[in-house]
Formats: sequence, structure tokens, C-alpha cells
Amino acid sequence: MKAKIAVLPGDGIWPEVITQALKVLDAIAERFGHNFTYCFGDVGGVAIDKTGSPLPQETLDSCLNSDAVLFGAIGDPKYDNDPTAKVRPEQGLLGMRKALGLFCNIRPVTIFPNLKHLSPIKESYLEGVDMVIYRELIGGIYFGDKGRTEDRREAWDTEYYKTEEIERIAHLAYQQAMKRRKKLTLVDKANVLESSRLWRETIQNLAKQYPDVATDYMFVDNAAMQMILYPSQFDVILTSNMFGDIISDESSVLAGSLGLLPSASIGEKTSVFEPIHGSYPQGAGKDIANPIATVLSAAMLLDHLGLHQEGKIVTEAVSRLLESGLGTRDLKGSHEITCSKAGDFLEALVHDDDLKVDKQKFSSGTSTII
Ligand code: IPM
Ligand code: MN
Repeated sequence: MKAKIAVLPGDGIWPEVITQALKVLDAIAERFGHNFTYCFGDVGGVAIDKTGSPLPQETLDSCLNSDAVLFGAIGDPKYDNDPTAKVRPEQGLLGMRKALGLFCNIRPVTIFPNLKHLSPIKESYLEGVDMVIYRELIGGIYFGDKGRTEDRREAWDTEYYKTEEIERIAHLAYQQAMKRRKKLTLVDKANVLESSRLWRETIQNLAKQYPDVATDYMFVDNAAMQMILYPSQFDVILTSNMFGDIISDESSVLAGSLGLLPSASIGEKTSVFEPIHGSYPQGAGKDIANPIATVLSAAMLLDHLGLHQEGKIVTEAVSRLLESGLGTRDLKGSHEITCSKAGDFLEALVHDDDLKVDKQKFSSGTSTII
């Protein structure tokens, strides 16, 4: 297969982790005779520094002309600490989501068995945890009317949804539930918010089209608690942009590290694959970041291109690396390896299903792979 992939590394550590994901994609291309071409573009803080815009037209055009986008992360403390900044790196990401019509953000939460100890949650609570969050991505309070009064002492952001915006993501979430444990939980705040009542009403109607799926409704405050108390009850979670942002970060705690979780954003135009974490500026240039979230995002990208076997091979390579006990610094207790070393291992593992990473040999410096 020939595929054109727009690669947007963004800020902070993300040039480093993207490099590892590209090693893995290249290994897949070589093994299966695919031809992937990468078109690099700037987004976020780096793009502001170079062009004044967080999402230059050239970058957007390259996304629109590609089969998929692999995205790093954006964000820079110099903007976080300046609430008056007119241009912000985040506008690059939000602008891209809107321009590509990426209404559906998919965030799977899986627990790697040998990393359970990393989670602050007791291991017994993590038994059977396997969920996926469907977060609406281009509506709600992120994109609703916002503003300030002239004296700047009052401000507002509006949570606004149309029925169609809810329906289109809900169909995708239900289709996913059909392929999984057939349970869908709508997370909202329908006891208080009119927009949430629209979500609930819409889902109550739509649920009739999916009689095999058990639909459940949960207020977001309770969901935040249930995520910790009884996380294995969730299969597919469907929710709005803002609630999805919050509970997906919360869910990552179950996995033990934010550096492990990938995401896919799909919609009207080119789909985007990105880790759920931020740009970790403190780690930039130190080769210590965890590339796994980005590598797993690349696996979702392969799957999206219809390369299911290839996606599975990448996911399995990640499990094999983690099983070896080697891992980047965030995976405390693992024997520490650098970000680039993790990429090298994954590249080798993707090439050959019979390879094993041997921690003992790695530690003694004799050999790394048997
Ligand atoms: C995410 C991020 C973004 C969001 C930020 C960087 C704008 O937190 O992808 O979850 O809030 O959507
Ligand atoms: Mn977030």
C-alpha cells in the first residue's frame, strides 16, 4: 500500500517520540512492502515562533492532502503562564480539529498486566479494565460563544450542542460497543445542564436502534468517582468535549502512566492520531520521554488505513517490550532505557515476531535482543 502521512511533531519532547513512531512505521513498511511517505509540518509553539501562526496554511493543506496525520503534542510554558497571550499553541490543535471536522476522539484505556503496580489504584480494582472513551471533539464549550465584557471583569464560555452533533458521534460509539462488550455509558450532567439533557434525550432515542447494547447514563461527578472505585464496569464511554477531556486524563491514571495512551480523532476529512498527553517541556531534548503512546497511536493509524495485521504487530511489539521489564523513566521499577532505545527495540520487535528482549543481557551489556 502507498500512503501519505502528514507528520506534525509539535512542541516539547514530541519531535523525539515521533521519531520512534516513524522507526516503527518504517519497519512495518519494509516488512510488508508498503510505501509510506511523510510530509512534515509545524504546529503549535514552534509554528508560532517560525510563522506567527499556530497552524500555518501550509500545514493544514498537507493534512488535507494526506491519508492520515500523525501528531505529537503542542504546548509551551511561556504561553501557559501568560493568559493575555493573543496567539496560543493550543489554537493550532483546536483549529486543526475544527478544520478537519474531527468530531470523534477515541481514547482506549488498556492496562498492561506487568505495569499494574504503577497505578496508584489497588491492583484488584484494575482487574478486567478495558474501556474506550468516545469524546466529542469539535463542539461544546471549547467552541461555543465566548467572550469578555468591555471592562474585562466578566467572562463566559458557552456549552452548545446540536442534535446532529450528538448523533454522529453516538453512532460511531454504538458501532464500537457492538464489537466489544455491548455496553455504552453516556456521561453527562443532565441534572443541571440543558445541553446535557439534549445529549440524554438524543441517546435515549438512538439507543432503540441498538437493542443489543446496554445503555447506561451517569452524571459526570459520579463517573469521575466510578472511574476510580469500579473502573471495570465501563466498556464504551460516550461524552462531550469538556467532560471527555477531564475523564480521559483521569482514566490514564489506571494505566499507570500518561505516556502509554494513544488516541484517534476521526471525522469528515483526514483522521489524526496522537498521544493523549501533553508536550512535557521539562523532558525536551533529554531522551527520557515514553514513546509508547505515540507508537500505539501509529498502530491505530495503521488500523485506520485498513492495515489491521500491521497494527496488531505494533501493539504486540509494545506488549513484548513492556513484558521484558525494560521501560522509560516514567515506568518506575522498569529497567530504565532511553526514548530512542525504546524505539530501537520496538523497531526490531516489529521486524521479527520471534525476537525477545532480554533484560539480563541488556543490563550486563552483552546483547540486547535474543
Ligand atoms: C487534549 C488536550 C487538549 C484539549 C489541549 C491541549 C487543548 O488536553 O487533547 O486532551 O483540551 O483537548
Ligand atoms: Mn486533555
